[in-house]
Amino acid sequence: MIYQRAHQIVNDQIFLEMQGLVENSTVYVKLEGLNAAGSIKLKPAIAMIEDAERRGILTAGGHVIESTSGSLGVAIAMVCAEKGYLFTCVVDPNVSRQSLRTIRALGAHVVQVRDRDANGGYLGTRIAVIRERLGNDSTLLWLNQYANPANPNAHALGTATSILRELGHVDQVFIGAGTTGTLMGCAEHFRRFSPWTRIVAVDSVGSVTFGGAAGPRFVPGLGASRRPDIYRSGTADAEVTVPESEAVRMCRHVARTYGVLVGGSTGTVLAALAQSAEQIPPGSRVAAISPDMGDRYVDTVYDDDWVLDTFGPDPLIPYPTARDRAVQNRKVPA
Ligand SMILES: Cc1ncc(COP(=O)(O)O)c(C=O)c1O
Repeated sequence: MIYQRAHQIVNDQIFLEMQGLVENSTVYVKLEGLNAAGSIKLKPAIAMIEDAERRGILTAGGHVIESTSGSLGVAIAMVCAEKGYLFTCVVDPNVSRQSLRTIRALGAHVVQVRDRDANGGYLGTRIAVIRERLGNDSTLLWLNQYANPANPNAHALGTATSILRELGHVDQVFIGAGTTGTLMGCAEHFRRFSPWTRIVAVDSVGSVTFGGAAGPRFVPGLGASRRPDIYRSGTADAEVTVPESEAVRMCRHVARTYGVLVGGSTGTVLAALAQSAEQIPPGSRVAAISPDMGDRYVDTVYDDDWVLDTFGPDPLIPYPTARDRAVQNRKVPA
């Protein structure tokens, strides 16, 4: 297949069937890390930039600013490089080293905040930096992924449409929540075209989006220290939060069992799925969205020393194998 522009390389049709994550059901993991720019965020990046172009607020040589945990930054940097826009990318200490270097390599200017906000996260600090810069430079355009309707629309049109097109009937779908663009856009599409699908929203413990207490988080992607404007509570059928230590344990399990290095937020989504096994009737067709792959996390999630220092030894304990579980349930002799 030949593409004219790098950002058109959106691989919305790739799913990996994972056996054994939930007994007696089939789990299809949508691998968004195979898009150009390496993540699901390519779709909102294109959508927000092209929407700004259509509305005439982004013109030749324009200057874009955005706050990001990393993946959107890589995607916007790619699109801006190709379209000739300047890009200032505001990140925090949780951004992966690989994302940071990729954003710079694509020609963007990076501003990394250091101070935590009142809720113990960094989002408030990132937004404060953007507001200050907007005050000093009226030519800057803030895409604002936390409030921009083009973000969820990209997922209604792309992500959710492709899940139903490729999988047909879907009983349950597990979706991580960062800006909640993926969640809100997919929910809108599923409610219209597949109202029987149970939508499970997933977030990290320490995020405030589902109403939980704020706390420090170390894995980029999911969670927010202030509720995103596009989030509508009550949209999903269930909201599940997962401690980051469990997400890390799941990532490492998936890498060693399925041979796929998945990103931190995928570990959170799959840990939520395993945690929800009792709510998944036998024979269900379950979709789970994997926002990116794990190569950006080899120095953190997949590094034993980082895991020990950050979470202690628990995430290093392997998951029980299918045989261990069968012994536990006395289906086979020990
Ligand atoms: C790796 C990763 N996973 C998940 C998400 C969450 O997606 P959304 O912002 O659509 O909620 C993000 C968002 O930046 C991300 O970078």
